[in-house]
Amino acid sequence: MSLVDPFGMTDKLDDTLLQVIITRLEARGQHPFFMKMLQGYLDAMNIDGTKTVLDIGCGTGVAARAVARRPGFVGQVTGIDLSPALAEAGARLAAKEGLGDRITFRTGDTRRLNFADRTFDAVVAHTLLSHVDDPLAVVKEAARVVKPGGVIGIFDGDYASLTFGHADPDQGKAYDEALIKAVITSPRVMRQMPRLLHAASLELIACFPYILAEIGQADFWLSGIESFRRLIPKAGVMTDEEANTWAESLRQDSEEGIFFGASNYFSYVARRS
Ligand SMILES: C[S@@+](CC[C@H](N)C(=O)[O-])C[C@H]1O[C@@H](n2cnc3c(N)ncnc32)[C@H](O)[C@@H]1O
Repeated sequence: MSLVDPFGMTDKLDDTLLQVIITRLEARGQHPFFMKMLQGYLDAMNIDGTKTVLDIGCGTGVAARAVARRPGFVGQVTGIDLSPALAEAGARLAAKEGLGDRITFRTGDTRRLNFADRTFDAVVAHTLLSHVDDPLAVVKEAARVVKPGGVIGIFDGDYASLTFGHADPDQGKAYDEALIKAVITSPRVMRQMPRLLHAASLELIACFPYILAEIGQADFWLSGIESFRRLIPKAGVMTDEEANTWAESLRQDSEEGIFFGASNYFSYVARRS
């Protein structure tokens, strides 16, 4: 387990790193495949039939805004994030999109939510669980604050499968392992999810597996690589120079049409009985 994941300590990062994260979250959130994975589980949650939605670990509000802008959704969304700066960015972006009156952003820790039992019709956790050290506590908190009959959507990378091609496969493996250690706290959490849902007394009602692979040229992964280049040295697993060499070789691979980058992603939809 990593103790260095910057996404799990966003309340302690400086403005420069927070800006790197904001840029990455927004670039990733606009990517068509990422949007498709998000809309897929929102549909399966029948989110348009809900009136109150909580987005835990909301970051800049990618999922909160996606819910609020759905033509069939007429309810209210609350976004909670560890980082005051990310919650503020979320409020700014929502206001800019004319969604300011539909979404409320707050600072809080999803391991100990400051809401009464049975408050929300639905809870969404979009790429949060891989960044927390106690995912079961978060799932149990989601189960506590959702109403009986309410739904929980959990989406994340199966980041133990995150991999990039490299001219030297052994070096590539070492880079993959360093990257995962640097930016992910719980890389195997999506493999644990059926057990965690069961332990939180939630009923699994749907699961969608995806592979986000780019082969030849990179697009989605390029913005990730640019942000990881800045985040990895802060985690202490590579020097600035090593991280730049890693990122440059992947950018070069993409330019030459020989890029390989992939990770599995999963979404789970569960119901509280
Ligand atoms: C990878 S980002 C995802 C942000 C957003 N859901 C998205 O998909 O764009 C993970 C987010 O979880 C937040 N986070 C991590 N640990 C948290 C915790 N214990 N409580 C609340 N938020 C947390 C981070 O601040 C960060 O914004």
